[in-house]
Amino acid sequence: MVSEEVKKRIEKLREEIRYHDYKYYVENNPEISDYEYDLLVRELKSLEERYPSLKSPDSPTQRVGGAPVEEFPVVEHEIPMLSLDNTYSSEEVKEFEERLYRYLPGEKFEYVAELKIDGVSISLIYEDGYLIRGSTRGDGRRGDDITGNLRTIKTIPLKLLKKVRGRIEVRGEVYMTRSGFREVNREREEKGEPLFANPRNAAAGSLKLLDPRLTARRPLNNFIYSLTMVTSFSMPSTHWECLKILRDWGFRVSSNIKLCKDIKEVIDYWNFWVKRREELDYDVDGVVIKVNSLSQQSRLGATSKSPRWATAYKFPATEATTRIRNIIVQVGRTGALTPVAILEPTLLSGTVVKRATLHNEDEIRRKDIRIGDTVIIEKGGDIIPQVVKVVESKRTGKEKKFSMPKKCPVCGANVMRLEGEAVARCIGSACPAQLKERIAHYAQRTAMDIEGLGNKLIEQLVDKKIVKDITDLYRLDLSLLSSLERMGKKSSQNLLSQIEESKKRPLSRLIFALGIRYVGRRGARILSEHFSSIEELSKASSEELEAIPEIGPRTARSIVLFFQEERNRKLLKKLKEYGVKMGEERGKKKVEKTLLSEKKFVFTGALKHYTREQAKELVESLGGRVVSSVSKRVDYVVAGKDPGSKYEKAKKLGVKILSEEGFENLIKNEFKY
Ligand code: IVH
Repeated sequence: MVSEEVKKRIEKLREEIRYHDYKYYVENNPEISDYEYDLLVRELKSLEERYPSLKSPDSPTQRVGGAPVEEFPVVEHEIPMLSLDNTYSSEEVKEFEERLYRYLPGEKFEYVAELKIDGVSISLIYEDGYLIRGSTRGDGRRGDDITGNLRTIKTIPLKLLKKVRGRIEVRGEVYMTRSGFREVNREREEKGEPLFANPRNAAAGSLKLLDPRLTARRPLNNFIYSLTMVTSFSMPSTHWECLKILRDWGFRVSSNIKLCKDIKEVIDYWNFWVKRREELDYDVDGVVIKVNSLSQQSRLGATSKSPRWATAYKFPATEATTRIRNIIVQVGRTGALTPVAILEPTLLSGTVVKRATLHNEDEIRRKDIRIGDTVIIEKGGDIIPQVVKVVESKRTGKEKKFSMPKKCPVCGANVMRLEGEAVARCIGSACPAQLKERIAHYAQRTAMDIEGLGNKLIEQLVDKKIVKDITDLYRLDLSLLSSLERMGKKSSQNLLSQIEESKKRPLSRLIFALGIRYVGRRGARILSEHFSSIEELSKASSEELEAIPEIGPRTARSIVLFFQEERNRKLLKKLKEYGVKMGEERGKKKVEKTLLSEKKFVFTGALKHYTREQAKELVESLGGRVVSSVSKRVDYVVAGKDPGSKYEKAKKLGVKILSEEGFENLIKNEFKY
């Protein structure tokens, strides 16, 4: 018999974890440290192991690991999932409003403006607060039951935060973040698998996987945008209130929504976002305009295809048609040869595009891309556009097939393509193109973050043979640097101090910066949580590495090979001699990952309890960093008395703003352990 006490404790733990999941994943505003959170999960897991009869599908421990299915059962939507009418100009939006006036003469309309997320639409059904089914839209009447896959998305509640009786249905959009999409494609490219053209296709493909364990590994997220059905109580009177209730129940509702008192405000909202859509980490293809009053919505009704109370005001397309003038080959830091299409310059969502990546030979063959082809290009989550497909009807017969060169276009060494690899590589160990890329990789913001070491400077340093490997960066001096083109004394000094700063970066960054094949940012972070120094990591065997979740055999092998290589060992030895931090000293306790580690702060306005210098020291002592200007990459802006323009900018960019008190709370959490 299981005691009541155990049952209660398990329920309590689940409630708490659900709440903290919500704070962390949905609100991005954790209340406890990762460490404290881990303790809760660990306790719950061990109780569930000890008392298997108390395992329950709604437990936060049960998100991953559902069994694979043969195929998805088909489900019938109780309320059809319609689509939206599109509008493409403010005139058409005004016509939309005119139509509303015709249907409901004499009435006034309020609107909710939302971003139209470019993902996959889903329906979720809850009974008495528990998720019982999740499905795709399908043809609008029937969709696929993909409950197992949707359960793996951390922001979809398995149990609602509030008691909600009866049956409810909510709808929303599952999407893949742009950064996640790039990472997924990078991995697929390394494995020689076909690439996703854009984050939407990637999200759709991920939801169609028959094994939920694979879906769980994909960086998916969701926004819920409507409450379609409730059975045990009456609906509120507006859509706006529905969204508020959905948020209270624990759903992830976008905060970029706006209640508009007239259509002009809707158009302002569109004008605001059309300029800022690139700042979001997900693709949006327009604004959805919805009549706010639910009574008006039901009186307006729907056609067989779409509701009359809503429309999508689309953004200019991110797709364009253009012609490939030539295909050139670039050499990356691992020697990988990447074919790049040189395009007839074309305007694509506000910028002139001249190149598109073609990834590798297999992709070119798969899509049968030839020089001279007319192609559709798309900016999907990437700065560099992709070629989606060839417009075959435009072929003239004069197009030329492309083949990879046999020699490296930069250093002339042989090019090899290993069995099972999609990528052809230059094998020249002294190839300057590789070295330049390796340095750029090492210095980039998410690696050792050496500001001021840009491509132009790297070119000079390598071409003049001043830098022959990354360790030479630590031997640069003022007179040499200031003798270079475009380098004044001040910028040289700044660069030197940046290089000095880079010696102190945390282990995860160094691991990433080394450019070990198959070790991306995420992999580097995982490794840094398992090993306290480069030395420890260098001694790990393939088996040890493979035992780490998310480190596969290929990555493990690549790490072992990297550290076996004499040249790499020498390089690390030199880095150490120059004072680059190689993780924790042996014998020292490994520092737990803290909430502040690697977080970036900006301070604005006067603080009551600290000088700027003290605040900076405090943040740095907890692993965070203080920077001077606000950008999307900043995690927190701390606003004291009379904050300046930085505050406004943070608000605009949606960067989290903390009061002094909020900042202190964050710090307090850190000191708990
Ligand atoms: S409301 C009757 N709101 O756009 C349909 N849809 O054709 C009401 N979408 O596939 C949908 N973001 O999944 C609504 N904020 C949003 C949306 C949104 C994306 C998708 C939806 C559907 C398509 C409409």
